[in-house]
Amino acid sequence: MELFLDTAEVDEVKEIASWGILDGVTTNPSLIKKSGRDFKKVIKEIAEICDGPISAEVTSMDSEGMIKEGLELKSELPENVIIKVPCTPEGLIATKELSSRGIGVNVTLIFSASQALMAAKAGAMYVSPFVGRIDDIGHEGMDLIAQIMRIWEQYPEIETKVLAASIRHPTHILECLQLGAHTATMPTKIFRQLMKHPLTDSGIERFLSDWADVENAGNA
Ligand code: G3P
Repeated sequence: MELFLDTAEVDEVKEIASWGILDGVTTNPSLIKKSGRDFKKVIKEIAEICDGPISAEVTSMDSEGMIKEGLELKSELPENVIIKVPCTPEGLIATKELSSRGIGVNVTLIFSASQALMAAKAGAMYVSPFVGRIDDIGHEGMDLIAQIMRIWEQYPEIETKVLAASIRHPTHILECLQLGAHTATMPTKIFRQLMKHPLTDSGIERFLSDWADVENAGNA
């Protein structure tokens, strides 16, 4: 399973990439706004730190504009940048065109299995169902991942990876893993939570304290 970071904060990418387990990064216009920095500069810096796919999102709503933006981003930014487009009919047109040119496309804002299927048929490299935002409106976001994975199992010829997005807590990640999602993207906080356990902390504390006793007794 691929683990992606969902951020536009370069320092966070550096931190998680240094662990050696970061497979890619996703950004979106809201995360770029939060960073307060220049879009292309941020993407370039991130793509130089992490050599996996880095999603840069277009903001045009018509296919022509999306294709133009996608081609520009691909020509100006490092090779590992892929283009994120919204899941609309115009987004499908752009996905088909960009993917036919060998450009990786991540189709975002997916809230139904039918949208995921259409994006896959258009040639998307990734489809991004938003788990947390479905939970937010009182439905079960993980059901969507389960449904998409069941469809994918029926059609092994589908090469599009399912990228679970809008992840809100570590359990979401474990559930996605059990359902066979190919990829999940999460905020830095969740990467840290995935590694944290109070028994690890108290275990280290006890080992260190016992070792100090061994040293004090001159047995080391
Ligand atoms: O990058 C897209 C997605 O992960 C957004 O998550 O928390 O804004 O719903 P969230």
